[in-house]
Amino acid sequence: MAVSPLSSPKLEQAFDAAADLAAQVRLDFPILQRQINGQPLIYFDNAATSQKPLAVLQAMDHYYRHSNANVHRGVHTLGNEATEAYEGAREKIARFVHAPSPQELIYTRNASEAINLVAYSWGMSTLERGDEIILSVMEHHSNLIPWQFVAQKTGACLKFIRITAEGELDLEHYRSLLGNRTRLVAVTHVSNMLGSINPVQEVIALAHHYGAKVLLDACQSVPHMPVDVQALDCDWLAFSGHKMCGPTGIGVLYGKRELLRAMPPFLGGGEMIAEVDWDHATYADIPHKFEAGTPAIAQAVGLGAAVDYLSQIGLERVHAHEQKLTARLLEGIQRLPGITVYGPKDPARRAGLVSFAVEGIHPHDLSTLLDEQGIAIRAGHHCTQPLHRHLQVQSTARASVYLYNTLAEVDRFLEVLAEAVAFFREALG
Ligand code: ALA
Repeated sequence: MAVSPLSSPKLEQAFDAAADLAAQVRLDFPILQRQINGQPLIYFDNAATSQKPLAVLQAMDHYYRHSNANVHRGVHTLGNEATEAYEGAREKIARFVHAPSPQELIYTRNASEAINLVAYSWGMSTLERGDEIILSVMEHHSNLIPWQFVAQKTGACLKFIRITAEGELDLEHYRSLLGNRTRLVAVTHVSNMLGSINPVQEVIALAHHYGAKVLLDACQSVPHMPVDVQALDCDWLAFSGHKMCGPTGIGVLYGKRELLRAMPPFLGGGEMIAEVDWDHATYADIPHKFEAGTPAIAQAVGLGAAVDYLSQIGLERVHAHEQKLTARLLEGIQRLPGITVYGPKDPARRAGLVSFAVEGIHPHDLSTLLDEQGIAIRAGHHCTQPLHRHLQVQSTARASVYLYNTLAEVDRFLEVLAEAVAFFREALG
């Protein structure tokens, strides 16, 4: 099921259902017991990477202690166990995003590599001079640079969907960009800077009407809300493991089976072949055609455990919990003097992150001051330099929450932020 903005009564119900989530899960995350600069850690940098529950750490530890071997190679017990664990995780991840088959899930190093895979394999071999690729101005660099490479090499051109004053995709503008040369629409599901949840179902349907393919960058949606690739009907979907309680070093590309089958390999090497001769080779079927070399086996196992962990909790509940925290964050930040908040003002239209700028205060200084009180936020351009330029702001501060964050943490953050803003304003005179 694709997530659409919740109406107010629904939001209230969701809030009730989500009330005790953080209390229930916090103890699963050992790192949350840490003190930073003598203060309890408040980790609000979840859009950059999430923390890991014991279940994930233990699954990886168990794999290395008990079943470590290479996959798809050894005809021995450990090799079989490793292969089962690696492929078993693929099945779990496929169910998590409701892919028709695990074959349609390719393990990559991260989401950037997943998008590069599509750009190099499909983009470089399919697109021609004059073809059009539609992106949006809110894209992360990882869903921009690979398409710049493709455009430079093939002569295809890039077009960008503008955003509204509320920081949402301007669908009218999108409609005006679509045409019979549109070959690809590559957009983010949830903006990592604005927090907007994009109406991707509509975006996809419109693109398909013109015969264009659609790639979704789902790095900020798959960890936080239910995502169903069949309901969305996207052609490709990319996400990373480390933002959803899994380890770094593993990402996922979902792609429609026939499309993946028709795409040439991306990287060459062991594992991805069927028959090899001196000057040519035939390739394995998907997904292995796209998984050259020894893969990140323990990381796949860890991601499988993360998927089990999140599935037990339920993504609807995670999303509702984050919306509750975001509503409080938004309201509190907006009350402070000299602050600009980016993205939709209605918390029901956003995911769990808020980017803001404070007049006269560099976000790095703000972040350093918050760190002194144990609070971790991100400061900078969040890998969205063109979007920052479009919004005429050099850099912003960003607080991003996850299932283990509490309302008490939000209140403490708002208190420290208010003190920091007052301190800087006084210093500036
Ligand atoms: N893309 C990640 C972020 O937004 C790293 O922070």
